[in-house]
Amino acid sequence: MKKTFLTLAVALTALTVHAQQDMKTFIDNLMARMTIEEKIGQLNLQVGGDITTGRPQDVEIANLVADGKVGGVFNMKGVEKIKALQDVAVKKSRLGIPLIVGMDVIHGYETIFPIPLAMSCSWDVKAVEDAARIAAKEATADGINWTFSPMVDIALDARWGRIAEGNGEDPFLGSQMAAAYVRGYQGEAPSSIAPQHLMACVKHYALYGAAEAGRDYNTVDMSHWRMYNQYFPPYKAAVEAGVGSVMSSFNIVDGQHATANRWLLTDVLRDQWKFDGFVVTDYGSIGEMENHGFGGLKYSSALALHAGTDMDMCSQGFLKTLKASLDEGQVSTDDINQACRRILEAKYKLGLFEDPYRYLDPSRRPRDIYNNVNRQKARELAAETFVLLENKNDVLPLKKTGKIALIGPLADTRDNMAGTWCVAYTPDRYSTLKEAMQRAVGKRAKVLYAQGSNITRDEALQRDAEFGKNIRRVDDLKAHEEAMKVAREADVIVCAMGECADFSGEAASRVFLEMPDVQRELLADLVTLGKPVVLLHFSGRPTILTWEKEHVDAILNVWFGGSEAADAICDVLFGDKVPSGKLTTSFPQAVGQLPLYYNHLNTGRPVAEDADRFSKYASNYFEVRNDPLYPFGYGLSYTTFEYSPVTLSADRMKADGQLTATVTVSNTGRYDADEIVQLYIHDRFATNARPVKELKGFQRIHLKKGERREVTFTVTPDLLRYYNVQLEWVLEPGDFDLFIGPDSKHLQKATFRVE
Ligand code: BGC
Repeated sequence: MKKTFLTLAVALTALTVHAQQDMKTFIDNLMARMTIEEKIGQLNLQVGGDITTGRPQDVEIANLVADGKVGGVFNMKGVEKIKALQDVAVKKSRLGIPLIVGMDVIHGYETIFPIPLAMSCSWDVKAVEDAARIAAKEATADGINWTFSPMVDIALDARWGRIAEGNGEDPFLGSQMAAAYVRGYQGEAPSSIAPQHLMACVKHYALYGAAEAGRDYNTVDMSHWRMYNQYFPPYKAAVEAGVGSVMSSFNIVDGQHATANRWLLTDVLRDQWKFDGFVVTDYGSIGEMENHGFGGLKYSSALALHAGTDMDMCSQGFLKTLKASLDEGQVSTDDINQACRRILEAKYKLGLFEDPYRYLDPSRRPRDIYNNVNRQKARELAAETFVLLENKNDVLPLKKTGKIALIGPLADTRDNMAGTWCVAYTPDRYSTLKEAMQRAVGKRAKVLYAQGSNITRDEALQRDAEFGKNIRRVDDLKAHEEAMKVAREADVIVCAMGECADFSGEAASRVFLEMPDVQRELLADLVTLGKPVVLLHFSGRPTILTWEKEHVDAILNVWFGGSEAADAICDVLFGDKVPSGKLTTSFPQAVGQLPLYYNHLNTGRPVAEDADRFSKYASNYFEVRNDPLYPFGYGLSYTTFEYSPVTLSADRMKADGQLTATVTVSNTGRYDADEIVQLYIHDRFATNARPVKELKGFQRIHLKKGERREVTFTVTPDLLRYYNVQLEWVLEPGDFDLFIGPDSKHLQKATFRVE
């Protein structure tokens, strides 16, 4: 048996070497025929266009492609349009080099999955991989072969709207998710991508999520030590999973633009992590370097290329200036050759030289896109991402009887269900919550609906909401009265409130994270009616729910759950599914606490986690305690779980050994349900400061009511290592605390010593 494996492995390695040799020979031959201008052309990425329209901007793109001045295009939808442009590349450009065709397929194509932050709250790595696989299948059926995903920026500050696009605040979970996306998108063999898979692009490298004060595109500054321990792991995990491309970020790293940072793009990415794909800039980054004070387009382009950037997205800095820089000796032919080779390699891996029309098969659309299997998967995953924050007196699940008032500006909108970044979405086909609820209860209950309010009183934001996502404008006073009337008639009040989809995502930073004024006022009045009130809370980020926690009976955080969100919400609301999502970001009590994260370092003057008042000369605030409103890892279920104390297989471990930690988890409630069991570790004494706890394992388990199960984690040396200030990956002997529990706060503890 062993021998067979060995033979197989040797054969596979031989095949890979052979394939790489083939690729090298092919590209050597091709490059030998390319002019320097054609090589530079490959480094240019443009937004695509519908060249059949004859509009001047589209004609311009067609001409550039025909002249061999474009390596790739992105964010265009439809096989016909893409084919028209690919035709120009293949038939009209001198060497017929096909285009790589990208898109922001961030959480699905037409079947939209929940926003990535929500998906991470499922802690269901396999389901996230499946979602990426489905997204790849749909996108490739429509002509796309490269996605600008996964976004894996660690984000600790809820003011930053792009927190919606990542996996939250934890490097361990973030790394698992990063690898899952890459596997799902690219399939098993990143060196030879199958036609139902596409090339992934991990972004935004690096540290984009640490933008100061949560303001988008803002400065980032941190120690290397922190980068390596807290911010780099998910990017590195994507590289280890074989990601084909990396997008650099908009921000400064060590005083240099990430796009032109040689340490980041070459020393770390290529020399240390052995990345062998290509690096693309973010949109217009090279052009933006001038605003950062690095000089004009020509200088910035030369700097970026030299640092390790291969492809320029939308600045046309490479296209317009590299030849002159080459003539002046500011860049070398080798620099250009290297970047060009990497892009051609990507096209080779995608099979585009073999068949430039490989991804342009119109017969796939009806079969592969937005089909029932994909939609069902999206619905199931969406239900796993909702986080039950409150459920006083077991108000949830609701019965499908009586009169249900459904109120709020998000109750009857189609466009908002999908959330941020859905370039290819088709909202006309998605259900509103009102429609799904009527379907779910049928004739058994009556749904009484009222919009109740606008999204906000802020005129500019309200206009954006109406424009971007078709939120109907109402007269707030009248709508409020109507909602109160409807609510008075009902047995239970379900509110669909919170942020609209455009309140998170790119360029959506906020400083007030409470429920928008006009919605909160309505909610407060509804609560005074004394009927059970359930808040279905929509958001693309952690928000501040202090008032809601106190006054509302049940809060289900539903994020933006994708194309099937409305049905998924009803599945959970009425108990056909039991909620199991757990937060992957801490929910603050107040904006002043931000950045807020569970895996922080200790101070010399810590306060107890459960302190109930301000303590002078300790590290805390006057107004609120340090703990979050809802901690990382938190989420309720309709059932209850009990955790036994932790038992360890040994209380000592050799530096090259391992031990196991076990708890028994019992389902003590009335529903069969899933639980996410979490393992945290704290290094008590080390050469460098260590976080108070760090997630090091999790398991999603299913327990029938009354069932109990032992859950065992293996603690290996790698889980205990960290980067010291010399950036060595070390395991230091000494005492460790180990915690297991349902979230980062309610934990059973044990200790062990590494010798
Ligand atoms: C965003 C990227 C995105 C790119 C292309 C940029 O503005 O930062 O995340 O992939 O645009 O659409």
